[in-house]
Amino acid sequence: MKNTNRYTLTAALPYANGPLHIGHIAGAYLPADIFARYQRLQDRDVLFVCGSDEHGAAITIRAKKEGISPQEIIDRYHQQIKDTFERFGMSFDIYHRTSSPIHHELSQEFFTNLYEKGEFIEKETEQFYDADYDQFLADRYVMGTCPNCGHDAAYGDQCEACGSSLHPTDLINPKSTLSGKAPELRSTKHWFLPLDSYQAWLEEWLIEGKKGEWKTNVYGQCSSWLKSGLQARSMTRDLDWGVDVPLPEAEGKKLYVWLDAPIGYISASKQWALDHGKEWEPYWKKQADEQDNSRLIHFIGKDNIVFHCITFPSILKAHGEYILPDNVPANEFLNLEGKKISTSRNWAVWLHEFLDELPGKEDVLRYVLCANAPENKDNDFTWKDFQARNNNELVAIYGNFVNRALVLTQKYYDGKVPAAGELTERDEELLKVIDLYPGKIAASIEKYRFREALSIFMDMAREGNRYLAEVEPWKVVKEDPERVKTIMNVALQCTAALAIASEPFLPFSSSKLKGMLNLQDKSWRDLSRELLKSGHQVEKPSLLFEKIEDELVDQQVQKLENSKKMNEGEAASPELTPLKEEIQFDDFMKMDIRVGTILSAEKMKKSKKLLKLEIDTGIDKRTILSGIAQHFEPEAVVGQQVLVLANLAPRVMMGIESQGMVLMAEDTEGKLVFAQADGKIGAGSTIS
Ligand code: 2FM
Ligand code: ZN
Repeated sequence: MKNTNRYTLTAALPYANGPLHIGHIAGAYLPADIFARYQRLQDRDVLFVCGSDEHGAAITIRAKKEGISPQEIIDRYHQQIKDTFERFGMSFDIYHRTSSPIHHELSQEFFTNLYEKGEFIEKETEQFYDADYDQFLADRYVMGTCPNCGHDAAYGDQCEACGSSLHPTDLINPKSTLSGKAPELRSTKHWFLPLDSYQAWLEEWLIEGKKGEWKTNVYGQCSSWLKSGLQARSMTRDLDWGVDVPLPEAEGKKLYVWLDAPIGYISASKQWALDHGKEWEPYWKKQADEQDNSRLIHFIGKDNIVFHCITFPSILKAHGEYILPDNVPANEFLNLEGKKISTSRNWAVWLHEFLDELPGKEDVLRYVLCANAPENKDNDFTWKDFQARNNNELVAIYGNFVNRALVLTQKYYDGKVPAAGELTERDEELLKVIDLYPGKIAASIEKYRFREALSIFMDMAREGNRYLAEVEPWKVVKEDPERVKTIMNVALQCTAALAIASEPFLPFSSSKLKGMLNLQDKSWRDLSRELLKSGHQVEKPSLLFEKIEDELVDQQVQKLENSKKMNEGEAASPELTPLKEEIQFDDFMKMDIRVGTILSAEKMKKSKKLLKLEIDTGIDKRTILSGIAQHFEPEAVVGQQVLVLANLAPRVMMGIESQGMVLMAEDTEGKLVFAQADGKIGAGSTIS
């Protein structure tokens, strides 16, 4: 057992390709934040890191969809996600990004380290290739039916329905997500990490070493992978977005995103150290005395288990200088109103929208997501439950107790904590709660049982509430005001203990309550029966939580209903390409569009998609490669008048320089037409 005080906590780096929803929060971020806040309250040395995962197909696919560059995508969503986390009270020490130079450097250093140790196997392999798009397909660009569970929209690297890790060629009926067609196999060279040679070590370190310690859902997934036998996995990709493979013969290839992303935890720590004049190594590297190694804990959702429990530890082990995770307390998935959360169908509660539409309710959401956390199995979020937990628990129990204690203190003693007299058995009973419950909460948090911890916290508040209801100071005050001083002292000690113990779960209301109690800078160790000295001044109270009316949750339910209707509507009518992002007049004015005539046209060899056109633009004659070969025969376009984007930077494709673009439009059936007066109304413009 380590005796270190140092904790390196990581929360999965979200892809900077879209906003956060409550499923993300319940899966990884809320438990991570509760744990980090709790450990800090225990005066432990915590480094809590997160950041945006800005590489991989998740980003390029999104960029393609929106018709903008990957850089624009990551800049937009990195900022958006960072702001949203902050508003929600995530207490990261740093929220970094994997596009930063420090991250690229460190990832390359890892690759080179392993390469020089001969850890990789170089292999020429057959990989899926989309001939229409002239490119190799990253795993995420291939979709098909999962061979394990039959889910028909599994990705080439993973099935999100059953969590199994896949290779694109494992998929039944694979399709390219670019052209929608069955891809072909072509040969390419890559560097593989032979995970099979780590199998024996993983069995010892994980299967034997973590039994009974790691959560059963995590341990179970790992053992079943190990049982079915590990295989070598490629650590490089044919992509044009990501960290360059630092080898001269690997030009144009990038590191696999799942190699560089977890290294993002370390590069974030390095950046944090630079920013604060600290050292990052103690949080990541093995110490001379093993007992002093930092405790490394990864908070993730279940779809990330294999990468954090098998691949990344193998990489860290191969490197040799780094510590290994102590625990990976992954959660299962959160559903919404009985259905799987879906970003594409907008079946989600988006965190930024929640914060905009329900201001001041951050802690209510934290409470509900923790009380309902999918810790051992998938769980469901409903707006009715959100309302009920707020009204029946936060307002009626915790808020009610605190409010009564503070209001009566104002009323009877002008806010000065009265001195306690002789304690009755009933008083002792409540004080015992303050003595015992924080220890129980702590024990549950240490075991990553956050639901249980929160429910003990609420029981503690319930005890306080029950105490006041039983001893009825508002009645006793008339005949025995001395007794009431003791009652209120005891109730206030309980209130103060709740203010501290609630901090990991409900940081906003904890800080508000501490403010009302004038109780600053206390730690978990201070939790004792005399947190407030007699004579201590407390402030005039205001409500910690307010009742949520039906109208508010009805609106949210209606919003979801609208998404459902939109989806049903879309399914019934032919799909129109969504409108691209708004551009400014100046952007438009930069384009030099000319009328031209196609003088000749021929098919490009080895390309199904491209026609080579010679076009007279009036100012010059130029060659343009246009992706219209599947829509037009070459003979049919000769003599055609077309609109040419004449000042587009030339681009070499298949060895030929294309000097501009022919403007095309797509009609509602997806047929391409030349952009001119005969384009159909409502057609969205595309450029080919
Ligand atoms: O699943 C995801 O959203 C990944 N971006 C998580 C990466 S976690 C870590 F390895 F960076
Ligand atoms: Zn599956």
